[in-house]
Amino acid sequence: MSDIAILEVDGKKYEFPIIRGTEGEVAIDLKTLRGVTGGVITLDPGFKNTGSCVSAITFLDGEKGILRYRGYGLEDLATNSNFLEVTYLTIFGELPTKKEFKRFEETIKSNSMVNEEMKDIIDGFPKNAHPMGILSSLTSALTAFDPKSVNVEDEEEMFQAICKTMSKIPVLAAWAHKKNLGHPMNYSNNNLSYIENVLEMLFKIPTESYKLSPKVVNALDQLLILHIDHEQNCSTSTVRIVGSAHAGLFASIAAGVSALWGPLHGGANQAVIEMLKDIQKDGGDVEKYILKAKDKNDPFRLMGFGHRVYKNFDPRAKIIKKAADEVLEDLGIDDPILDIAKRLEETALKDAYFVKRKLYPNVDFYSGIIYRALGIPTKMFTVMFAIGRLPGWIAQWREMRLNKEPIGRPRQLYIGENQRSFVAMSER
Ligand code: ACO
Repeated sequence: MSDIAILEVDGKKYEFPIIRGTEGEVAIDLKTLRGVTGGVITLDPGFKNTGSCVSAITFLDGEKGILRYRGYGLEDLATNSNFLEVTYLTIFGELPTKKEFKRFEETIKSNSMVNEEMKDIIDGFPKNAHPMGILSSLTSALTAFDPKSVNVEDEEEMFQAICKTMSKIPVLAAWAHKKNLGHPMNYSNNNLSYIENVLEMLFKIPTESYKLSPKVVNALDQLLILHIDHEQNCSTSTVRIVGSAHAGLFASIAAGVSALWGPLHGGANQAVIEMLKDIQKDGGDVEKYILKAKDKNDPFRLMGFGHRVYKNFDPRAKIIKKAADEVLEDLGIDDPILDIAKRLEETALKDAYFVKRKLYPNVDFYSGIIYRALGIPTKMFTVMFAIGRLPGWIAQWREMRLNKEPIGRPRQLYIGENQRSFVAMSER
């Protein structure tokens, strides 16, 4: 095995080191490319082949369908652990001891008050504002109430900032939901577990007592574990790149929320249900929509199908499909939308177009179905994803800062006009 890659440009050869990851992945280290070649750069729109960092958080093998956080398989964690414990593992690198977990949980709980003036900001939003927009704005606004930037060299300060973020974001997420409903905002209930608290803040209304269902708590716990991290995806890369300019943790997370909102990323879970409803309204003809998705002149895509890295199957989808089936059975839900989802899945999986391009249902195809069964409105799906992805964003932000990564600043290949002289408007 060679440790050197040779690149020839305009007849001149250059050598670059080959770096190997702990799982045998191979990368050519091109840090010096531009300098030694006198200006040559790599061009890789969408970063399909470009590693932006080294990371010890998540290992993903899209071909084999492997996903591990800090070396632990997703199935192992989803079966044996809980969301907060996996959060600790993802951020700090090791499973917590009993004492460490207690301190983590208690510090999160002790930070769960959100400044009341935040409600004035919420008042300024129209009632129908999308909760992702509200969440992103409120997350940014947290900086106004806590302007001191965290000293990343100080372990305790870092710990406190992490707990604060883990604590306040779900409150803001629930408030975004209550704003849409026109209901009063709930406060955190520190007697509950993290996931129970999320559910209570979302669903509790002052006129009735709210009864938590252990099955629902368990399903949401599992679902959010699956979303915790997914290495350098669009929102995580955004968090890292914003943080690389030394923007604070809240500002970096707010940027991540905005990136996640896009329908090609976290917004896909909402798009899946909207697509299924459209198909239902249009008479439930699944074949017609498969044809539309295959038609290159039609911009329609099957939402919840395909993935940038998983080209065999999405391991999260496998776990979540089982959870979805269980939740639907447990809650005794009979939903015509779900029938369409099943038919769509079966038809697409047999269709040569989807088979050839390795387009399988991704995690979002099923997560929307579970959220719908849990009574979470469609507009809130991506917000739920954000709550799940929060630990991953924090872990990646922390790693980036501790590794002292340089500011993220890609290059470009200019293909515009060459220099020309200004022409007065009267002569154009
Ligand atoms: N429906 C129909 N055709 C599709 C779909 C789809 N959902 N996804 C990809 N294709 C086709 C493309 O048209 C392309 O065909 P071609 O080779 O004939 O030109 C081929 O499959 C490859 O597609 P790309 O867009 O190049 O694949 P890429 O890796 O860039 O995109 C993505 C991945 C964005 C997820 C894409 O599959 C997609 O748009 N899916 C629907 C949205 C979605 O579900 N997103 C959630 C992703 S998971 C997450 O973010 C948590």
